[in-house]
Amino acid sequence: MDTFVVEGLEGKKRLSGEIQIGGMKNAVLPLMAAAFVVEGETKLSNVPDIADVHSMARLLEGLGAFVSRSGDKASIRTSEANGTVLEPKLAKSLRASVLLLGSVLARNGKVTFAHPGGCVLGSRPIDVFIDGFQKLGATVHEDDAETYTLTAPNGLSGGEIFFRVMSVTGTEALMIAATRAKGIVTLKNCAMEPEVVAVAEFLKSCGARIEGAGTPTIVIHPSHLEPPQESFRVIPDRIEAASFLILGALAAESLTLTHTEPADFEAVIETLRGMGASIAVSGTSVTVSAPETLLPASVRTHEYPGFPTDAQAPMCVLLTQAEGESSILETVFDGRLNYTSELVRMGADIHVWNPHRAVIKGKTPLKARDIDGPDIRAGLAFILAATIAEGTSRIGNAHLIDRGYAGIEHKLRGVGVQIERHTA
Ligand code: EPU
Repeated sequence: MDTFVVEGLEGKKRLSGEIQIGGMKNAVLPLMAAAFVVEGETKLSNVPDIADVHSMARLLEGLGAFVSRSGDKASIRTSEANGTVLEPKLAKSLRASVLLLGSVLARNGKVTFAHPGGCVLGSRPIDVFIDGFQKLGATVHEDDAETYTLTAPNGLSGGEIFFRVMSVTGTEALMIAATRAKGIVTLKNCAMEPEVVAVAEFLKSCGARIEGAGTPTIVIHPSHLEPPQESFRVIPDRIEAASFLILGALAAESLTLTHTEPADFEAVIETLRGMGASIAVSGTSVTVSAPETLLPASVRTHEYPGFPTDAQAPMCVLLTQAEGESSILETVFDGRLNYTSELVRMGADIHVWNPHRAVIKGKTPLKARDIDGPDIRAGLAFILAATIAEGTSRIGNAHLIDRGYAGIEHKLRGVGVQIERHTA
């Protein structure tokens, strides 16, 4: 179990330099799942070297696919992939395993999987997936309390699905499956995240006929799929960019993020500007400087293009440094404020009124602590908090941070953060 050891800057704004943003975790995972629905070899580029990509590769291999990596390139060969069972331990450890349900069911007529499981973000049900596949003609069998089998031996049919909640992976999994349905599939109340659009673009490059990705209604027509000759480039990670932008607003003289798509995280850029941070956007680069005084803000997480829930925990660290009263309203998940108790241990003044609402009073200096991050984004938030704190912090559960941030210690050291990885 690795730990990050971070020497705090005691509030000094001294970080400077450039960080290159990598390919997006939440885009590459559905793209790998989409590759499974297409028979042949799919090539991807700008693939981040993160633990979740390795887990998804192992899941695909368990289904009979061959996955190879070289630098930021990946090749996924699926011609002989006839598997129908998602390896239970892996599937349970990776919520994104649900992305494979549509691919495997639509391609091989059957999929057996373990419920992706309890997660620190609160209850994460799968009803959207089950209802959706049933509407396309699949039969659901509950094998035991935590294992399900979906079957559609004669293929999926066309149909109309209205998503009860806007679900990112739900939209992606159903869109992927629909490319092999026998009739037209209309998806309503779809998630509109850039990663949904990226998956649609990939499927279109394979010959799929998809209209409306990026809007609430997506229509998928039956078509023949073949992988494109050229490799498909994974979009830049808007959450990695947002996380480091927040770091810049906390502690940078001048920090430039390169290889980004600034339009994908405008909600974060505008919120930070409202708090007084100076942010300059130029093409695919964004430069941020921390202001003398940070103003408070009310942050409400929301589906895209609103403020992303995945940037909520890092944002909370920034709000502890704002002069006055700020608030967070978490509208997407019901267990995503639990990490705040650790920030309170560091000296923050945060009152959690209910699982969705926190009030933060600032500015409070933070003191170094030894903390275990509960999930990817809260772990990252603790690194940010440790960076501005007084003293040396140890952030445990580094493997969770590695699930979503490639080589974080190298990227952060490059701009002046004193961070080391210790392997026990
Ligand atoms: N929901 C249901 N039923 C379902 C599915 C979802 O009620 O069957 C609810 C969820 O409980 C939640 C809401 O719908 O309250 C939205 O969840 P969504 O399904 O959109 O989340 P997800 O697809 O499981 C993806 C990202 C998350 C990110 C959310 C929200 C991937 C692999 N994961 O999860 O990323 O927080 O969308 O944007 O794309 C992360 O990267 O750290 C992360 C957690």
